[in-house]
Amino acid sequence: MKIFPLITLCVITSAHKITQLKVPLYADPRRAAELSCHFEMEDQKLHSVKWYRDTQEIFRYNPSQNPPIRLYNASGIIVQSGDCQTDSCLVRVMPPPLATRAAYTCEVSTEGPKFQIARQTKHMTVVAMPEKDPVIIGARKLVRPGEQLHLNCTSDYSLPPSDINWYIDNELQKPGVWQRTELSAPELGGLRASWRILRIVVPPTASGALHVRCEAILLVEPPVIRDVTAIVTIHSRTQLSKYVSNAGSAAGVCIFLWITLILNDFINTLMSGSL
Ligand SMILES: *[C@@H]1O[C@H](CO)[C@@H](O)[C@H](O)[C@H]1NC(C)=O
Ligand SMILES: *[C@@H]1O[C@H](CO)[C@@H](O)[C@H](O)[C@H]1NC(C)=O
Repeated sequence: MKIFPLITLCVITSAHKITQLKVPLYADPRRAAELSCHFEMEDQKLHSVKWYRDTQEIFRYNPSQNPPIRLYNASGIIVQSGDCQTDSCLVRVMPPPLATRAAYTCEVSTEGPKFQIARQTKHMTVVAMPEKDPVIIGARKLVRPGEQLHLNCTSDYSLPPSDINWYIDNELQKPGVWQRTELSAPELGGLRASWRILRIVVPPTASGALHVRCEAILLVEPPVIRDVTAIVTIHSRTQLSKYVSNAGSAAGVCIFLWITLILNDFINTLMSGSL
């Protein structure tokens, strides 16, 4: 009585299928990315394997045609090569130098008359991570209250370009109209460096040190953050007077020691003379 569901199950498991789709989550715009599609035909005969980028076909393998492999450059990407084995097809694409996310689909179809299709999709995002921490220019080690600091923080090259945030003692410094993040010209692969200026006037009553942090943030999922901190010491008057009074007491100790030594000498001479 329960024979029908069993038969249905057998039909499903005997269908051809994609066993593995390898699409890197991130692709570097300076290098070709390798995508591979692994499949199992079971008892079916392969008609074709196709790769799509979003809706555009970029690759077709049709073993009964000559040449069996055809490549199609689609909207900015260059399909460098394609290669197939009996159970897999590999394609190498040079992604566009833009921070884009695209869907890559592999489609495996069986011979007629059924032309059954197995399909799988994965997304790839074009990203070039920064390799170095940002750099702060103009952070003097020592400043006086009331003095101005003109700081420039530059990020490493990346795609998309980094956004720059400044913090003073962990407090975010909102950018003024003229202090937005600026971008360099693009390098190979569309990578750009970015920088942002921060002007600080050291408060007249300030003392201690300012912890100035620059954060370069790459808005990918999850965000990639690199940062650098500069410590600026404030040369305040209170510190200066402390230093002077310390020096005074040190001199006092020296004079006291000198007098003691002279007296000692004098007493020694007296005693040796009396002997
Ligand atoms: C794709 O573009 C590259 C570079 O422009 C070119 O060498 C290649 O022949 C193109 N391939 C096809 C199939 O048009
Ligand atoms: C900030 O530094 C970068 C890199 O050193 C430089 O290209 C840029 O011109 C500087 N910006 C300003 C306003 O000084």
